[in-house]
Amino acid sequence: MTTISQQGGARRADGPRTAPAGDSAHTGPRTAPAAPANTTAPALPLPVVLAGARGHGRWHLDNIRRLQDKGLVRLVGVCELTPLTEEELGGRHVEQSADFGALLDSTGAAVAVICTPIPTHTDLALTAARKGVHLLLEKPPAPSYAEFRRMADGVAAAGVVCQIGFQSLGSHAVPAVRKLITEGALGRVTGIGGAGAWARDEAYYRRAPWAGKRRLNGVDVVDGVLTNPLAHIVATALALAGSTRGEDVTGIRTELLRANDIESDDTSCVRVTTTGGRITVAATLCAEHPGEPYVLVHGTGGRITFWYKQDRVLVQRSGRGPEEIEYGRTDLLENLVEHLSGGDELLVPPESTGAFMKVVEAIRQAPDPIALPPDAWEQLPGERRRVVRGIDGFVAAAADTLALYSELGASWALPKEVSTA
Ligand SMILES: NC(=O)c1ccc[n+]([C@@H]2O[C@H](COP(=O)([O-])OP(=O)(O)OC[C@H]3O[C@@H](n4cnc5c(N)ncnc54)[C@H](O)[C@@H]3O)[C@@H](O)[C@H]2O)c1
Repeated sequence: MTTISQQGGARRADGPRTAPAGDSAHTGPRTAPAAPANTTAPALPLPVVLAGARGHGRWHLDNIRRLQDKGLVRLVGVCELTPLTEEELGGRHVEQSADFGALLDSTGAAVAVICTPIPTHTDLALTAARKGVHLLLEKPPAPSYAEFRRMADGVAAAGVVCQIGFQSLGSHAVPAVRKLITEGALGRVTGIGGAGAWARDEAYYRRAPWAGKRRLNGVDVVDGVLTNPLAHIVATALALAGSTRGEDVTGIRTELLRANDIESDDTSCVRVTTTGGRITVAATLCAEHPGEPYVLVHGTGGRITFWYKQDRVLVQRSGRGPEEIEYGRTDLLENLVEHLSGGDELLVPPESTGAFMKVVEAIRQAPDPIALPPDAWEQLPGERRRVVRGIDGFVAAAADTLALYSELGASWALPKEVSTA
């Protein structure tokens, strides 16, 4: 096995990995407007407001501090429902308010990072856009396609730049794998699989009112395994297929199940048919032995496995020894700042998440997830989490064969026979 550390071809951020290890090429035409042509590049450091600073927002606080040390941004405000303590702020003194719009005005923010619950994304993004504030908006951008369009169209109309927080799409492996595919290194691509076997305990679903919900107080949430925690697999598989726009998707089939006592799904698979080929992603938050999620490109002459959280790629081609390559990664907030100040290409504009949002919409519209029968799962002794028996094998087999759980013969996924007697 050859192992290569691939730092070349990268513009920056090849040093220590900077993207979060969270639930977290570039392909196809990109539509991000370049930094507005008739304006001068903004002066650095750019003043930044963070909305949602607990939860995953803690990672953003650290990342903003890292970019502050590089002179790229300056944290000027935090929007939270209850103010952060001095300790949570790491001794920094910044303005705080629960009123996002007022905080943007009083701080003169140029950029807002939005890391709040999914149903709040569109309204907060549009509040910022109307004030001319550029955005890093966490994934999933919205809980429905209609809300996504409202956000993306509003942002475009306001002329601000918006980056969607799919940090795996900042991996330099994505364009590198796309290049291998388009150069024919794998022969003809026959499909793309994705596998994610993670573990989440019951407390995960109790941490916030929206966790594990499909709807809350009459609004869509769609917090399922494929739309939130392991959404990166879907988005990355679509990127490797070169099918990132809404119009690239021609068909979607879902199988949504749950072992936990939640409204949403925790053990699901989806087949997405796109103009770039067929994709099957299987995922669970009830793994027996949690592992690194990956995307698997199948070709007539070989295959490529991409562990997207590690920026690690294994290329297996017929007639050649296996080759393992580690790539660097561009941080998405840094890319947004460089886009605004230097004209770098924006990595994840809203339109490049249109195909992913079609998947969110299909899951939103699907019937409620099926509760797995009690003999299909167990409560792990000593851990407050549920494990679906045999699920790790089903997840891996789905990525390997592009088959859905039902097609793999999972008894709990098979359509029930209806007795008419
Ligand atoms: N990119 C990744 O790897 C990654 C990882 C985890 C979560 N996320 C995304 O980040 C977002 C937040 O997820 P989370 O798990 O941290 O959620 P959470 O509910 O645990 O935390 C959200 C925070 O936002 C605050 N908040 C709620 N409404 C607010 C409002 N209107 N204004 C300001 N603050 C508000 C809450 O008080 C809370 O501190 C979601 O979109 C999620 O999908 C992304």
